[in-house]
Amino acid sequence: MSVQSSKRRLSPANIEALKGQRPIVSLTAYTTPIAKLLDPHVDFLLVGDSLGMVLYGLDSTVGVTMDMMIAHGQAVMRGAQNACVVVDLPFGSYQESKELAFRNAARILKETGCSAVKLEGGAEMAETVDFLTQRGIPVLGHVGLMPQLINTTGGYRSLGRTDREVAKIRRDAKAIDDAGAFAIVVEGTVEPVAREITSKLRAPTIGIGASPACDGQILVSDDMLGIFTDFKPRFVKHFAELAPLIGKAAEEYAAEVKARTFPGDEHTFRIK
Ligand code: KIV
Repeated sequence: MSVQSSKRRLSPANIEALKGQRPIVSLTAYTTPIAKLLDPHVDFLLVGDSLGMVLYGLDSTVGVTMDMMIAHGQAVMRGAQNACVVVDLPFGSYQESKELAFRNAARILKETGCSAVKLEGGAEMAETVDFLTQRGIPVLGHVGLMPQLINTTGGYRSLGRTDREVAKIRRDAKAIDDAGAFAIVVEGTVEPVAREITSKLRAPTIGIGASPACDGQILVSDDMLGIFTDFKPRFVKHFAELAPLIGKAAEEYAAEVKARTFPGDEHTFRIK
C-alpha cells in the first residue's frame, strides 16, 4: 500500500521560524491561475493592495476596498496549496481603531480562509498589531516606504537618508516587532538601515527595495514577470518579459481572425 504524503500549508509561525535558517521567498498574487503557478516556489503569497494599481489601473492603493481584497483573497486561496497566504488590509479598514482593525481582519480570515493579514504602519499601529495577534490574527507588518500614506508623504522614494528618517524606521520596526508581528515587510529603505534592523529584530524582515540584507524578499509578481511596465523602479528585476509576448500573441490572433485562418479545422465542431 502506498502512503501518500499530504504536504501541509506553511503557517505564519513557520515563516517566522525561517529567520536565520534561509532566505524567505515571497511574491504577490491576485488570481487563481497565477497563485497556482507561483505556489510551488514561494513560502508565502501576498494578496497585496498593489492590485489596485496593477489590476484596476488606480493611481495609488488608497482606493482599494475590503470587497476587492476579499474577492482576490478567495481567488488566491483557490490556487495556492502550500504557501502561506497573507491578505492586505486596505486603506481605511484599520487605522481608525484597533476594534475596527479586528473586525475587518477577522472578516478577511473568515471569508477567504487565508492565514494572516498585513497592515502598514509603525509605532502608531503597534497597539493594533498587539491587539490582533493577542486575539488570534497573525500580522505581517510593513514599515519604511508605506504606499497607503502617499497623500501625506507625497511620493514614492527610498528612505533612510536623513537622521530623522533613520530614527523613524528604527522606531517603527522595533515597535511592530515588539507588538508581535510574525514578519515585517521593509519597503524602499537604504541598505545600512535595512541591515541594522534585520540584525536587531526578532521577526524576519522581508525586503522590497531594501537590499539583500533582509531575511527574505518580496516583489509584485506583475513587475517581476514583466507584465506591468508603466514604470520600473530600480529595485525591480524582470525575470521574464511577458508584456511583448502578450502583445505579439494578440497581434497574431487579430491577423488570423482578419485573414479567416483562425479558427482552423481543428478548432471547429462539425457534424460527422
Ligand atoms: O501591496 C503590495 O503588493 C505590497 C508589497 C509591495 C509588499 O505591499
